[in-house]
Amino acid sequence: MGNILVTGGAGFIGSHTCVELLAGGHDIIVVDNLCNSKEASIGRIEKISGKSVKFYKADICCYETMTKIFDENNVDAVVHFAGLKAVGESVRLPLEYYTNNIYGTLILLRVMKEHGCKRIVFSSSATVYGMNNKAPYTEDMPTSATNPYGYTKVMIEQILRDVCTADEEFSVVALRYFNPIGAHKSGLIGEDPNGIPNNLVPYIAQVAIGRLEQLSVYGDDYDTPDGTGVRDYIHVVDLAAGHVCAIDYAMKHTGFEAVNLGTGKGSSVLEVADAYEKACGKAIPRRIAPRRAGDIATCYADASKAKRLFGWEALSDINEMCADSWNFTKMNPEGIK
Ligand code: NAD
Ligand code: UFG
Repeated sequence: MGNILVTGGAGFIGSHTCVELLAGGHDIIVVDNLCNSKEASIGRIEKISGKSVKFYKADICCYETMTKIFDENNVDAVVHFAGLKAVGESVRLPLEYYTNNIYGTLILLRVMKEHGCKRIVFSSSATVYGMNNKAPYTEDMPTSATNPYGYTKVMIEQILRDVCTADEEFSVVALRYFNPIGAHKSGLIGEDPNGIPNNLVPYIAQVAIGRLEQLSVYGDDYDTPDGTGVRDYIHVVDLAAGHVCAIDYAMKHTGFEAVNLGTGKGSSVLEVADAYEKACGKAIPRRIAPRRAGDIATCYADASKAKRLFGWEALSDINEMCADSWNFTKMNPEGIK
């Protein structure tokens, strides 16, 4: 069992992963600047796990602070979530995205190198499959991007590959997430976006709780069974469990691996809205709106590599994901406080 530094550990996927790492017997240290999360999530991780968490409110871009954190802790491996993630915002604020995501990762890698820490699990994204591949996506497909956010993921994967080439003791698992939704069964942690959500399930959740009026379905003329976009939604607790497997793998292997974390199954926008209606027992009013720029018709994983390498597969279906999202939303109608 190791001492794991979790960057971005107060966020949506990070907080769930902290819970799973603690349950797996690891010790964790969290660094998060809280630019998109609340310190209260750290207390909630402690409440769920019954264990204490060492927390640094700090920016990974700060070399001096990151050095201090590595000086004070014997870090065996890093799980690196910290980053900005809103596609539309990245088009408006490219320099902020490249600085925070790429410069932040470079600082982290430099400090890791200076402290002899050579294992990292990185939050990549299905976005690296770009517009030109056809689902199901396999890890050997060419990567590309259409916006600054996506480019940060493509570039960081390349940087990590190059680090592994230069140092054969280095170990990297780049996890390519599909669409994480849902929440921990306790309802204590979940997705708590600032402002009006961009993503489908957080938006539906706010319609269900009465904070937003109706769902806009972005296009019903795609080449899909019901005309609406198809995505591979994955329960965030399944995703979190995948990180524990990836850390265990990185402890025993060297080199670079990109691994999809998805269910291998797609659901349409209308199927998700219907599942959410069932979960919350209310109607989700909806209207058909124009397509959203940059969206593709269909995106789902070939999830066989994660099964082969880690023995991991997703367990929850879309109904359970929506039920857990609704439970969190009901328990936290104004988000995590
Ligand atoms: P999130 O915003 O909830 O979590 C990210 C955390 O990182 C936040 O707590 C934020 O405060 C912190 N952070 C950001 N910049 C930081 C910095 N410079 N220093 C310290 N902390 C910083 O997002 P999430 O959904 O949990 O995503 C986690 C990671 O997974 C991100 O890298 C994201 O790009 C990636 N990812 C997310 C999705 C998704 O749909 N949620 C899909 C694919 C990949
Ligand atoms: N959608 C709507 N209405 C909404 C929001 C979304 O109809 O209000 C539709 C979209 O058009 C798409 C589907 O719901 O067909 C899913 O959209 P999301 O915004 O929830 O997710 P995306 O697949 O567009 O993007 C997400 C993350 C990206 C990441 C990508 C691949 O937001 O950061 O998954 O991992 F890059």
